[in-house]
Amino acid sequence: MGIGHTRWATHGKPTELNAHPHSSMNAHVVHNGIIENYGELKKEFSENKFLSQTDTEVMVHLFDKFFEETKDSFQAFEKVIESVDGAYAILLITEKDDGKIFFAKKGSPLQIGTEKGEVFFASSDAPLIGLASEAIYLEDNTYGYVTIDEIKVFENGQETTFVKKALATSKFTAQKEGFTFFMEKEIYEQTNVLNDTILGRVDSEKVLFDEIDDDFFVGIEDITICACGTSYHAGLTASYLFGRLAKVKTTVEIASEFRYKDPVLRQNELFVVISQSGETADTLEALKMAKKAGLKTLAICNVDNSSIVRESDATLLTRAGIEKGVASTKAFSAQVTVLWLLALYVGQVKNRISLEDLKKEIKAIGKIKDVTKVDENLRNRIHRLSKRYLHGHGFFFIGRDLFFPLALEGALKLKEISYLHAEGYPSGEMKHGPIALVDSELFTIALMPETLLYDKTRSNVEELSARDSTICAITPTDFDLADDLIKTAKTNHPMLEFFEMMIVVQILSMEISIRLGNDVDMPRNLAKSVTVE
Ligand code: F6R
Repeated sequence: MGIGHTRWATHGKPTELNAHPHSSMNAHVVHNGIIENYGELKKEFSENKFLSQTDTEVMVHLFDKFFEETKDSFQAFEKVIESVDGAYAILLITEKDDGKIFFAKKGSPLQIGTEKGEVFFASSDAPLIGLASEAIYLEDNTYGYVTIDEIKVFENGQETTFVKKALATSKFTAQKEGFTFFMEKEIYEQTNVLNDTILGRVDSEKVLFDEIDDDFFVGIEDITICACGTSYHAGLTASYLFGRLAKVKTTVEIASEFRYKDPVLRQNELFVVISQSGETADTLEALKMAKKAGLKTLAICNVDNSSIVRESDATLLTRAGIEKGVASTKAFSAQVTVLWLLALYVGQVKNRISLEDLKKEIKAIGKIKDVTKVDENLRNRIHRLSKRYLHGHGFFFIGRDLFFPLALEGALKLKEISYLHAEGYPSGEMKHGPIALVDSELFTIALMPETLLYDKTRSNVEELSARDSTICAITPTDFDLADDLIKTAKTNHPMLEFFEMMIVVQILSMEISIRLGNDVDMPRNLAKSVTVE
């Protein structure tokens, strides 16, 4: 029997002392989440009891105190849970009750995996696949204990029932398959992944979503999308698509902001959350708020059975397979693909798109597979170019319209894995401030699609070139003012240009990161799934 937690502490520096488990005389604990009232609780104990700077450690000292009072380990654990506020997935073991693992869940993900003669705890399916055949997805505010023979789950002092669900058995998609990095594999994989994302969801003149009832959009006038990071960028992309293809007003919110702004929520809005992991704490809490306000909710998610999927009225799975690289790539493109399909679906059910246009869009969707295939010549060219972009005082990724969210995403990818400063901007914003930073050491990565506002973007890039910025243009046309040009193939649809340029910015950031000798798959200070706010 053992407990462990591979994440660094949220409080205090990432040092060994602050890493879990934390121990006292009688107990050892691991915890994912934040104990908000730990400062208050700590006051009961003398400061020299604490070895770490974490919020977590207070729980083992509380356990000791309550055990002293009750002489019963379960009662002591219950009292610990009653005392703490915040979000948590907790496991605790004690010498006083050998063979038992106590657990509690509120806000942070926790599930139990079972196999003959073995019991596991994890925060998602991924680590359990191959070890356990069934999983129990714990609800918030439940707690209890397991032994090798029994699993006891409680809520509000009463024992409660639980359901076991079958777990996937194959871990095939989580191997590197000959690539050096997971991120690399995941970039290359997109051509196949996106095919899976689309599979069965279109015929030649219709978008089909088995997961949504025909009347799901009845009474829905507007859409609010809420997400974090890369998923937020997918949401921003979708807001252009929903406006154009379905004529639906769409607002996009960053979940951590949305939660505390006292948002105005109306019953005629659909609340869409986007999340690769399905466990992002801010997105999950925003979703709960929207549900509480009586809104209809829809999740775009990559992980079935995740907390966000379980909380939503309906879910469209992105089917990207397990994403291991911390910097999201295939999950992003799968989100955008589902959202593009959804925009068409809404246009179709609300009769706001002509059959002719719908057919054109569907035809373009059929070509995603081709434009996301990594061309080895392109890869080599980016590899060679990348050596010129390892220094400088910053990067501007710029684009207009759909290419603005892609510029944001390109900048995020680069900063995550290269640790170079990069910002994404709408091209038209340059003269409103950012252009003041421009000189030859400021690198501009210009997204210049031919099919959408080319001339406008071009004149913005010219302004930067006139101020001597080093310009790397990503475009299918020749452009004299570029210092470097990465040529994309010609297509007839902005979304196809979007996917082509997405591949370029993903590879560019990876090549720069590799040259800088960074850990591409596990960049510093970042975690794959952000289950604390
Ligand atoms: C960036 C990245 C993050 C996530 C964000 C939300 O490469 O992966 O910005 O997009 O933490 O995560 P999910 O989508 O799991 O909710």
